[in-house]
Amino acid sequence: MMQTLLITDDINNKDWTREVSFIKNDGLVVMPTETVYGLAANALSDKACTNIYLAKNRPADNPFIIHLSHIDMLSDFTKNVSDDAKHLFKTFSPGPLTIILEKKNISDVASAGLPTVGIRVPSHSIAHAFLKACDLPIAAPSANLSGNLSPTTFTMAKNEMMGRVNAIIDGGDCSFGLESTVISCVDNKIVLLREGSISKEAIQDCLGGIKIVSKTVALFGEKVLSPGQKYRHYKTKTDLYLLRESDDYEKLVSLLKNKKVAYILPSYQFKAVVNHNNVNHVNFMFDNMLDYGLKLYKVLSQIDEEKFDLIVAFYPDSNPDGRAICDRLYRSSGAKFLKDIQV
Ligand code: TXA
Ligand code: MG
Repeated sequence: MMQTLLITDDINNKDWTREVSFIKNDGLVVMPTETVYGLAANALSDKACTNIYLAKNRPADNPFIIHLSHIDMLSDFTKNVSDDAKHLFKTFSPGPLTIILEKKNISDVASAGLPTVGIRVPSHSIAHAFLKACDLPIAAPSANLSGNLSPTTFTMAKNEMMGRVNAIIDGGDCSFGLESTVISCVDNKIVLLREGSISKEAIQDCLGGIKIVSKTVALFGEKVLSPGQKYRHYKTKTDLYLLRESDDYEKLVSLLKNKKVAYILPSYQFKAVVNHNNVNHVNFMFDNMLDYGLKLYKVLSQIDEEKFDLIVAFYPDSNPDGRAICDRLYRSSGAKFLKDIQV
């Protein structure tokens, strides 16, 4: 077990010497970002990047996203950047967008041997200050053990990474709560690889209305374009089942009368139904898709701390703003829909 420093200083005028020296000595620092907490290391060092794989227990073929403090650093670490990619960065960065580009100078361990690399400029003020102080490209996957929920609070980050890293920086709760949108701009093709809070439509609009291909799910027999798609993600300890808006939810919920259920539901629709049918339950309500996204991992981890028989979560597949949430819920549940099962 490593000794882990908890950094809770006021970040205004903070001296980053200690945190930067961890990074320069191939160590690991957990940093908050606007999406989820990241496990940061020097992206130029094979040793530092190997340490990330060990701390996360991550499969060695799944590359990291590289974080820059400013888009001016792009030309030092990538090549053949298309005008479309530049335009996307100009529009959405700093922010929750990752673009896959041809790499330059970045450790082959960070890119898992691929000739490409994902680049992101976070907008979180602490992430920005820390990256700037490091003055290096920083590899940072989400700060969870491989397969677990991504941390979106300081508590979740501590629970995952205490004893595995040199320091954890407290940035409070993340403001988006779901990982960045990942888009590939290699070989003059634009492909959406992971849904996030920047939607496919927003990207298409930004590029003058062109149609973008989605390869966010690896279908059987298809070549995987993003290694992360092969693995089970966001696993909860409690069994998770999904409820669609089009389901006969009064009937499905009434079948769970004798179970201790944690419901994650939109406040506008389900409150009455669930309250009348089951006394042995807890409801977690959300107001809209933004609210749902930012609370999702936090609520799932809180539920996991208690003893529930199962979790039932609303699957917002009829809402275009719900696509990133559907993607995470689908993977997290292992594609289990309440209407298909016998409980
Ligand atoms: O919001 C985020 O993106 C967070 C914060 C910390 O920035 N990071 C994050 O990293 O979610 P991670 O490692 O959990 O997810 C990175 C995803 C993986 O699915 C990985 O396979 C994909 O990006 N990826 C990374 N480099 C790639 C590449 N060169 N080609 C294709 N996919 C890549
Ligand atoms: Mg992750």
